[in-house]
Amino acid sequence: MNKKSLFQCPVCSSALVEGERQYFCRKGHSFDIARKGYVNLLLPSHIGAGDPGDPKEMIECRRDFLNKGYYENFSNQLNEALISQVSDIDKTKEICILDAGCGEGYYTSRLRNRLLAMDDTKAASMYGIDVSKAAIHYASGRDKNIRFAVASTYHTPILSNSMDAILCIFAPRDEQEFTRILKPSGKLIVAAPGAQHLLGFKKALYEESDVIGQKGTVGEGFELLKHMNVSYDIHLKGAEDIFNLLMMTPYSRHTNEEAVEDLKKLTELDTEVDFNIMIYQKI
Ligand SMILES: C[S@@+](CC[C@H](N)C(=O)[O-])C[C@H]1O[C@@H](n2cnc3c(N)ncnc32)[C@H](O)[C@@H]1O
Ligand SMILES: [Zn+2]
Repeated sequence: MNKKSLFQCPVCSSALVEGERQYFCRKGHSFDIARKGYVNLLLPSHIGAGDPGDPKEMIECRRDFLNKGYYENFSNQLNEALISQVSDIDKTKEICILDAGCGEGYYTSRLRNRLLAMDDTKAASMYGIDVSKAAIHYASGRDKNIRFAVASTYHTPILSNSMDAILCIFAPRDEQEFTRILKPSGKLIVAAPGAQHLLGFKKALYEESDVIGQKGTVGEGFELLKHMNVSYDIHLKGAEDIFNLLMMTPYSRHTNEEAVEDLKKLTELDTEVDFNIMIYQKI
């Protein structure tokens, strides 16, 4: 049976309907649903040459690391931050949420489980997009009830005025697209690394490690409602987790071989994690 969706056609911007094997629009454009359940809504004109987004190996390392629970505390606080912003929405209606740059879906699926555990809220209608096909492949394996699409945030294939909240966790932002997609009361929740993020880890890699954080600030069209900081220490147990952390971060591209070999010898490591969560209201 055909089902309505909040995806929009990347060619003509009409609403996409979910059929048995394809999403299609009223103008006859159609997009196959992969066996895993996701849809590819990325047009060649949306990207440059080569495979866009994070590669498979990086995604696998991030998935294995996140599955160990090192960022669970942050994920929980992110969920509570979002819930506090959508709790006044009419309980008889579905809450519509997009995770933009969702990666392999760790935060998206944990958020859905948290919302399901609330007994007074109707299940959310959740969407996740990422430009990396490998990321979306794994994300759709996490939860079949979240609609995942390979797509770029710069051409978000989501209907205008449809989302109650957008999550953007360590991922690129497009304020114009986010403004278009959000309902008038919609909230944008941005998470970005704070100044102390992974400092202990960086010290193990570099002789001099910069203390550079990102504020997670967004441009025009949004008003900052709240800034939260989540920071705590983690103890990495085992060489595999340490290596996964390296591979899931940009440090894998900026570290010389000698330092990587030294890091591989470590069997445990303590480091800070430091996250900024910014909650914005669309204006
Ligand atoms: C640092 S990862 C964060 C992933 C996930 N939010 C998490 O925290 O685990 C950044 C993600 O942004 C994706 N990405 C990069 N450019 C993008 C774009 N233009 N549109 C959508 N996703 C993009 C990458 O493929 C990658 O999965
Ligand atoms: Zn179309």
